[in-house]
Amino acid sequence: MPAQSNITLAVTGASGSIYAAEILRALAADTRVTKINFVASDNSLRVFAEELNLSGRNDLAEKLLGTPCPKLKTHAETDIGANIASGSYPTDAMIILPCSMGTLAAIANGLAANLIQRAADVCLKENRRLILCVRETPFSRIHLRNMQLASDAGATIFPVMPTLYNHPQTTEDMARQFVHRVLAHIGLPQPGAYQWQPD
Ligand SMILES: Cc1cc2nc3c(=O)[nH]c(=O)nc-3n(C[C@H](O)[C@H](O)[C@H](O)COP(=O)(O)O)c2cc1C
Repeated sequence: MPAQSNITLAVTGASGSIYAAEILRALAADTRVTKINFVASDNSLRVFAEELNLSGRNDLAEKLLGTPCPKLKTHAETDIGANIASGSYPTDAMIILPCSMGTLAAIANGLAANLIQRAADVCLKENRRLILCVRETPFSRIHLRNMQLASDAGATIFPVMPTLYNHPQTTEDMARQFVHRVLAHIGLPQPGAYQWQPD
């Protein structure tokens, strides 16, 4: 990961709004990250309302952070002309957390029908990191096939599966540790991240 990182964060309508909140906080606080392009799918808003009792579209990120974030730019899911829709725009990595089965299917099959799907498509064609934090249970054979397709095309399938061996005390703690693993994976190790140290 370059010294100054430009990260795209997308959130979709899978369960796990708390993960989106935690990764946004981590990216906002990380001085190596100089730009965050943020997109929330329309359907994610329904899940945010359900899980975090949060409403709002344009200011969702600010509500999650609790403060304005100058390096953050929110884009509408429908804005197919946004910067991240073009390969000429220098995104370093894109993370979709949480990633629904619907968005996974669209990416795996190259639909590029909204900004999230198009930005992911751009990452794949430009050989840039694309992390799909998928969430569903159980997986159907269609889900499994789409994960294989996306993985074969260059995406990393990073399922939302929190660890328990670090003894998380709260759901926030659990989500934070998962987010630490995602960010370490793209070369942004976080201070305070749990490291397994056997006796
Ligand atoms: C409360 C709630 C939880 C949901 N959880 C999941 C989930 O974990 N995984 C999933 O693939 N879809 C889940 N869905 C369904 C998706 O939101 C739905 O398939 C939607 O079309 C996804 O659209 P998007 O990918 O554009 O955000 C959930 C929906 C609701 C309302």
